[in-house]
Amino acid sequence: MNTKILYFIDAYQKTASAKVVEVLHDGNQTGLILDQTIFYAQGGGQPADQGSIMGEKSAFTVTHVSYNGGAILHKGKLSGEIAVGDKVTLEVDWRRRYQHMQQHTAGHILDQAVKNVVPSAKSVDGNHGIGKQCYVEFETELVPALVPQIQKQIQDIVRYNLPITTEMVTYDELIKRGIKLPFDLPKNKDLRIVQIGEYPAMPDGGTQLKTTGEAWPIAVTGITLHEGRWRVLYEVKKETQEVAKLPIVQEILSPTQTTTLQELQTKIAELKQQFGSEKLTSEELHTKYLGKKGLFNQLAQVLKTIDPAVKREAGQLLNFCKTFLETELQQRQTNTNETLWTDLTIPGIQPKIGHMHPISQAMEEITHIFEQIGFTRARYPEVDWDHYVFEALNMPPNHPARDEWETFFIDAPSNSQLGKIVLTTHTSNGQVREMERLNSQPPIRMINIGRCYRRQQDATHTQMFHQFEGLVVDKGINIQHLKGTLNYFAQQFYGPETKSRIRPFHFQFTEPSFEVDFSCHICHGTGKVTDPETNEKVKCKFCKSGWHEVGGAGMVHPNVLRAGGIDPDEYTGFAFGWGIERTYTLREGLNIDDIRLLYSGDLRFLEQF
Ligand code: FA5
Repeated sequence: MNTKILYFIDAYQKTASAKVVEVLHDGNQTGLILDQTIFYAQGGGQPADQGSIMGEKSAFTVTHVSYNGGAILHKGKLSGEIAVGDKVTLEVDWRRRYQHMQQHTAGHILDQAVKNVVPSAKSVDGNHGIGKQCYVEFETELVPALVPQIQKQIQDIVRYNLPITTEMVTYDELIKRGIKLPFDLPKNKDLRIVQIGEYPAMPDGGTQLKTTGEAWPIAVTGITLHEGRWRVLYEVKKETQEVAKLPIVQEILSPTQTTTLQELQTKIAELKQQFGSEKLTSEELHTKYLGKKGLFNQLAQVLKTIDPAVKREAGQLLNFCKTFLETELQQRQTNTNETLWTDLTIPGIQPKIGHMHPISQAMEEITHIFEQIGFTRARYPEVDWDHYVFEALNMPPNHPARDEWETFFIDAPSNSQLGKIVLTTHTSNGQVREMERLNSQPPIRMINIGRCYRRQQDATHTQMFHQFEGLVVDKGINIQHLKGTLNYFAQQFYGPETKSRIRPFHFQFTEPSFEVDFSCHICHGTGKVTDPETNEKVKCKFCKSGWHEVGGAGMVHPNVLRAGGIDPDEYTGFAFGWGIERTYTLREGLNIDDIRLLYSGDLRFLEQF
């Protein structure tokens, strides 16, 4: 004979009466089989209930309950006398039972949360109370990094306060509904399934809470691998969680007694009130109130228990209630859409667009100017052998001319032919390299732009700076070609009024050598400006002389041509080398009196260019 299981109907039933069907004695222990029971028999990961079974002349303490093929066996200690046919009163240890319900429901919520994160996840086992550790076990590989996402899903499921419903179905119905089965279930009898909100149902025999909002806080404590399966471990805190009071949900889920029209009206009013205070999105509201298992459909269940005389009116009230909910929901959707309106005419926020550093801009411009007259841009190392930086430029080791260059040497082994490694002090290292690149076959028209390094630091010097180096080698090249090139550049870069000037100087690698000046754009090379107050001619404060010095130049020294394999009797050439920072800051309107500002990284300064 099968025992009627009352917790299938109402897991919250704490007491009941029953009739004794069988009494079994086993030493000190007694076993009782009743016609019906509220005691949970151990299974599905949930421990058995404990409690008491009281007869007229007996008191029975239940310590364990087992399923026993449908005849539920209550085991425990008997005082007094009990016999088949006796009427008894049952009472479960509610604290213990409720704790197990919490842990079991938490397992199902967690199971769903994992499936929300990993849709392919298949759960195969679980432990919701026996022993110390609660877990749900999965066949699918899960990594600990998923814990925060699972936790977030649990919070959402709890926050939406979804109904948890149980139902008896046949095996065939189970398959028809596409319910995933964790293990083989008997095919010849009805099976109980549990469903959270609108999520897919799954087989379950345990006692469950009525809503997810009733769940105590659930904490996912880790994911471990156990015999080829992944366990998601969890804990349920014992203290009662503060959840929003949902009077109506609790009541309407189990309509057991006859309901009057007035009671229905009160419940409808409460439902509407609850709906009005919700902070959920329209979609969430729809699921919670008008979904298949939503609150409205649950409320409609009372029609089964309503007095037949007023059933028609009750139906109308429920219809009005449904229309009210649908209209309100539509209204909310419209309002939400309104708040999402975007005014496309509002001016946007302009994204910040950067620009090239002023020195990079100058480099591009200088390259372009020289390309116009047949020069080709070349690039040579900025960390180079002493040979190219000094020796090939007619500065043998220990020559006093080297002292001027304030050189940084690299702490690296020397090369027997090429000497030490240095940070290039000037771009002139490109001269012999260019000759070598062209197999000592002029014509050469090179513009080499690069970084240079010297141990210097003040308003007009930085330790790293840029130079551009011009080199022209061909038959018949003379100073006039150099002078014409200087004038061309001056006019292109500073404006058509600008003139160039060369003054005698000394470089080891040019003969003759010059310093190159450009006329000042403020006093136009005169060195004098008119004082606006006195109208008298006074000294130009910008140049002090009418000219600005930008760098050096000269006719390529025969020894340099020889070092590059070119016969100086056949070919001649000119070269020049100027600092880009200096050349650039002399431009009209810039007025930069400290070139270090260019490398300060100060956007207030750099954004001006
Ligand atoms: C030279 O460097 C020669 N190589 C130029 C040359 C090339 C002459 C070809 C003949 C033929 P000088 O040491 O004067 O020259 O430097 C040239 C320019 O580089 C200077 O006028 C200055 O504008 C710039 N310069 C030199 N040192 C620094 C520094 N520390 N910071 C910023 N600019 C510098």
